[in-house]
Amino acid sequence: MTMREKIEAAAARYPDQRSAIMPALLIAQKEHGHLPGQVLEEIADILDVERIWVYELATFYTLFHTEPVGIFHLQLCDNVSCMLRGSEDLLRHLEAVLGIKKGGTTPDGLFTLSTVECLGACEMAPVMQVGDDYLGDLDIARINAHLDRLRAAAEHATGVDLAAGSPGE
Ligand code: FES
Repeated sequence: MTMREKIEAAAARYPDQRSAIMPALLIAQKEHGHLPGQVLEEIADILDVERIWVYELATFYTLFHTEPVGIFHLQLCDNVSCMLRGSEDLLRHLEAVLGIKKGGTTPDGLFTLSTVECLGACEMAPVMQVGDDYLGDLDIARINAHLDRLRAAAEHATGVDLAAGSPGE
């Protein structure tokens, strides 16, 4: 099924095409990894809605990315509960170990680091979302373990030794 067909199928569930913009954005982002302008315009054309409506939603919600992101998008919550439980220290740690600032992507394209508003999982603060997963009760040791696990998953999937930056066995 093409992206157009998926969006049209999703839109058929809504009486108002404007209500289908959010599901359409999710479908398109899953398809393309991010949402460049031409994709936003394609969504507007498919749904026959104003382009500005599509742009507004795509740029308002942090779950949508109009710029390319790394294979793993680390979205650390910096809202009150997480901040009170150490998210600022975790952000500084992530920036140091990844060698990037908030908003940046590692040169190998593996990690993008962002901060986001409350993820609705305050009971396990501090929390970070990576893809569809919520990682909670974080401290520096757990962050390091998660980074190792994500690197290992990428190495397994690509066969590239990311620590050495060269092809593995
Ligand atoms: Fe971080 Fe709610 S404040 S998940």
